[in-house]
Amino acid sequence: MLECVASFNDEDEMNAARKPENRVEAGRPDQTGSGATPRRAEATPYGTLPPASSPATRKPVSLPRLMEMRARGEKIAMLTAYDATFAAVADAAGVDCILVGDSLGMVCQGLSSTVAVTLEAMRYHVECVTRGVRRVQGTAWIIGDLPYGSYHESPEQALRNAAVLVQAGAHMVKLEGGGWTTETVRFLVERGIPVCAHLGLTPQTVHALGGYRVQGKTEDDARVLRAHALELQEAGASLLVLEMVPARLAAELTEALARCATIGIGAGNETAGQVLVLHDMLGMNLGKMARFVRDFMADSSSVRGAIEAYVAAVKDGSFPVNAEHAW
Ligand code: KIV
Repeated sequence: MLECVASFNDEDEMNAARKPENRVEAGRPDQTGSGATPRRAEATPYGTLPPASSPATRKPVSLPRLMEMRARGEKIAMLTAYDATFAAVADAAGVDCILVGDSLGMVCQGLSSTVAVTLEAMRYHVECVTRGVRRVQGTAWIIGDLPYGSYHESPEQALRNAAVLVQAGAHMVKLEGGGWTTETVRFLVERGIPVCAHLGLTPQTVHALGGYRVQGKTEDDARVLRAHALELQEAGASLLVLEMVPARLAAELTEALARCATIGIGAGNETAGQVLVLHDMLGMNLGKMARFVRDFMADSSSVRGAIEAYVAAVKDGSFPVNAEHAW
């Protein structure tokens, strides 16, 4: 496993390591006499704070890197997180992308859907996650969900609110829906904000959809979904979450979208990546677990171990299993 966080046995050891005379400067010869090979840090321009821990050995996940993973066929492991500690642990466990999803409304706030989540709540949680990832000099790509009502009026409204999440630390924003969202996606991308789109079961419109149901099952629905996906790619969306979409349709879309990586949740195992809600995959669900979830905590003795098992299962294609987790 990659070592991302320096470990200290006690506070004295940690304080000693922080003293200038004991610190191994990144990229400079080791003058401590320890014989350790100093790690070479990436340049950190524009006034970044000095490291609080050793730089991660993993390369930071960037947009070109995600596109390169998609082209190479390396599966993208995405997971939600809403606070600093879980975000840092997810990063250390090797998650590629952390989604600060508006599912936080249900998971953290006890709401019955994501519809009432506010932009201010999203900003707060994006900031917490970003701080957690930075504290461990993490490398994950952070995605902030635009909540219901924050991008529906106009592309200008979407830009104003996307800027709030990006300024809080998100590298990319996510928004739900197709057709009418195409112009908004283009507007954001042209102004330098990477976008993750979201089709299929779109929880913000759960009332209009009549519940949490599989989408794109009929030929007509599949045709609309296909058209929306291609339009979103043309508009510049780099990632596309496909939620509760038949596995065959998701596989077909993945093949058709060369410049937009599909991320499945209940969409089978042929998408370019997978996402789950953190609390679901840790088995923290007192209700009926959705079909597309696996409880990774069941065979793990730690949260970090469970997330590492999730990342490994996504990467080697053993999760999800179409017969168990998809339609
Ligand atoms: O809000 C969220 O967590 C999401 C995922 C379920 C994809 O949108």
